[in-house]
Amino acid sequence: MQKKIKKLSELRKEALAGGGEERIRQQHEKGKLSARERIELLCDEGSFEEIDMFVRHRCRDFGLEKQSFAGDGVVTGFGKIEGRSVAVFSQDFTVFGGSLSETNAEKICKIMDMAMKIGVPVIGLNDSGGARIQEGVNSLGGYADIFLRNTLASGVIPQISVVLGPCAGGAVYSPAITDFIFMVKNTSYMFVTGPNVVKTVTHEDVSFEELGGAETHSSRSGVAHFAFDNEVETLLNVRKLMSYIPLNWRDRVKDLKSSPDSLKPVPELDKIVPDNSNKPYDMKEVIKLLVDEGDFMEVQATFAENIICGFCRINGISVGVIANQPMVLAGVLDINASTKAARFVRFCDSFSIPLLVLEDVPGFLPGTDQEWNGIIKHGAKLLFAFCEATVPKVTVITRKAYGGAYDVMNSKHIRGDFNFAWPSAEIAVMGPKGAVEIIFRKEIMSSENPEEMLAKKTTEYTEKFANPFVAAERGYIDDVISPSETRIRLAKAFALLKTKVDKNPRKKHSNIPL
Ligand code: HXC
Repeated sequence: MQKKIKKLSELRKEALAGGGEERIRQQHEKGKLSARERIELLCDEGSFEEIDMFVRHRCRDFGLEKQSFAGDGVVTGFGKIEGRSVAVFSQDFTVFGGSLSETNAEKICKIMDMAMKIGVPVIGLNDSGGARIQEGVNSLGGYADIFLRNTLASGVIPQISVVLGPCAGGAVYSPAITDFIFMVKNTSYMFVTGPNVVKTVTHEDVSFEELGGAETHSSRSGVAHFAFDNEVETLLNVRKLMSYIPLNWRDRVKDLKSSPDSLKPVPELDKIVPDNSNKPYDMKEVIKLLVDEGDFMEVQATFAENIICGFCRINGISVGVIANQPMVLAGVLDINASTKAARFVRFCDSFSIPLLVLEDVPGFLPGTDQEWNGIIKHGAKLLFAFCEATVPKVTVITRKAYGGAYDVMNSKHIRGDFNFAWPSAEIAVMGPKGAVEIIFRKEIMSSENPEEMLAKKTTEYTEKFANPFVAAERGYIDDVISPSETRIRLAKAFALLKTKVDKNPRKKHSNIPL
């Protein structure tokens, strides 16, 4: 027995060494950690249990028959984050560049299948040269097996992709299907075709970082949800994200102890919205003052900044926030803002995370660029997502709620549970000046003093519609509240809504305007 145990420990040692010391050194030189070091940072200390450590590839071509590594380039298993179980795979770049082989894919699929049965999230640490070239279609099949599982698991268990190195070709589609993508600045990249192919096909000169680095995907394409300076920060933020989300769609995030501040007025909120309704203010200030400990984890912070999405706790309850940002493009809804927020709303609804909407929106962005690129169908995504969501939904209109955007931003009509407005709210079909120019055009044109007439009519319209009381009279607004009491009202609303049950009609699935 002793001999056999010794053999086992030798085999384990071999597997733990991955591609060997030299390759791990090279990995460190690039500012990257090894597959196992990453898992150690991600999971609670000592909690990770590896499986399939002895798996080897079955390829007998192109010299691979002479080269094999225990584990075959991916570390898989189950660990814990703050005491809650998660499934993890971590691609090992030191073994064949972390490339995906048939057996490597089988290992990933195995933990995904287990995660579905147990009901725990899957966190994928990606660092791979893509399909293992020597294995041809077996490797491609492996990717497809993963894509299918990613898709079937969507909405059942949270899936988080952390891109920590190359992620190219069709391989990008696994992270793309998952709920959140984390990237690291300067050491990770994602693209369908790399700079060389781009040069050949379109004659463009572009670097790896520019084409598909963290900056590009977090600010320009919107593919990535988070980008951090280094791997340690990235992995710690994955842990943080996990604190807001449940283990599966039936699970509920545990409430934290409610903060005593939740039930105190916040006088600073009364001073944030400027008297001049065309002046911007920072909605992030409002969020900070409304949430527990001022702690807000923003998602896609540098993409479509005219809308803010992210997680927080209100009175200890995990809540997803969607807020227009008057500081950027006056908080208008455009294509990027609509798709960003729609996906966020759907994530929260899939996993029973209540929604808070803070609304100050002048409408949808006009222009040929927006129209020709499909603001109609993209805006519809956000409308559809809010309509379909059955989680607790609370809206606070802080200032403007104009046009279709009033309907879209979780209005009462689309099943908002509590719709509050601040006294500064302006709820109407459009802004006063634009409205008056249309409905009183003839009167203004034929008047002796058109300027004066325009101003008079604008004042009349503003008095009549640029306030929350017309909507409150009809019950479209449940209450007009002072900004300083908002935190208390939200704490009470989300506590009351904890037992909310609502559902959609039975169907195979809906057909969201994609
Ligand atoms: C087999 C691979 C590999 C791959 C890298 N390696 N990618 N082995 N299959 N896909 C090996 C290298 O041969 C090398 O082995 C080791 O990993 C490290 O690679 P380097 O090139 O030395 O590293 P680096 O300079 O950092 O470059 C990383 C890289 C480059 C940019 C990722 O390796 C690369 O371009 N690889 C190919 C990428 C690719 O085209 N993949 C297919 C994409 S298509 P040795 O032993 O020499 O050190 C795809 C289809 C998916 O993935 C389809 C799904 C539908």
